[in-house]
Amino acid sequence: MGWLRSLTAAVHNMAGRTPGKRPRTPPAEIRAFFTRAAQDEEHYPSTIDARIFHVKLLMEHLGDLSGKRVADIGCGKGRFARILRERYPEASILAIDLAEAMLMRVPQGILRAAATMTALPFATACCDGAYATESLEHAVDVPAAVGELCRIVKSGGRIVIIDKNAEAWGRLETPEWERWFGRKELERLLARHCREVSSRPISYWEDVEPDGLFLAWLAVK
Ligand SMILES: C[S@@+](CC[C@H](N)C(=O)[O-])C[C@H]1O[C@@H](n2cnc3c(N)ncnc32)[C@H](O)[C@@H]1O
Repeated sequence: MGWLRSLTAAVHNMAGRTPGKRPRTPPAEIRAFFTRAAQDEEHYPSTIDARIFHVKLLMEHLGDLSGKRVADIGCGKGRFARILRERYPEASILAIDLAEAMLMRVPQGILRAAATMTALPFATACCDGAYATESLEHAVDVPAAVGELCRIVKSGGRIVIIDKNAEAWGRLETPEWERWFGRKELERLLARHCREVSSRPISYWEDVEPDGLFLAWLAVK
């Protein structure tokens, strides 16, 4: 269990983050929101169709995970991790989420830990890959979360972020702490830690032109 850092330290760090210029929503409030959201299977589903391009792109970029370790950061109910687990039963999949109510719905066989993505309870360079799908938008301290995502991945390891596009802001209702991102904004943050970084608009279906809501960032550390 060399990859597991002290959860106590992670929780301590989470509580102790320095506030920015405007007051930050306390992690407890965000956790409470997602604890309630875990009951909502329509908007926070526990499964995803493996044919959806978000899944295909993630799998393609992460590559062959047989015998490897990959972390799902802000995993929710583990809908992406579930597919990785089915495809690579020998892989070690670590699922992290702020809300235990979400983690309770993550399938068996996936290692789970309640923690914040801004202070991951994992050792540096312990993973072959890591991804965050529609979770970075809730991180509040986004540079810290991107830093952590990259820290836990070894050199040559692969990182995927799928999230919403700042240019589409307003298209959906959002809680007050949520942020959407410009392509260059996250590319710059990833480039602090990774040697290859790219981004692209994506849609749910490969043969449908992206409507500008979702972006994918792909990186190699
Ligand atoms: C919109 S859901 C996406 C879940 C999952 N990645 C998916 O695609 O199904 C956002 C998730 O991020 C989690 N989350 C929010 N803030 C977090 C934080 N600071 N650290 C870890 N997880 C967080 C929430 O609890 C929630 O499960």
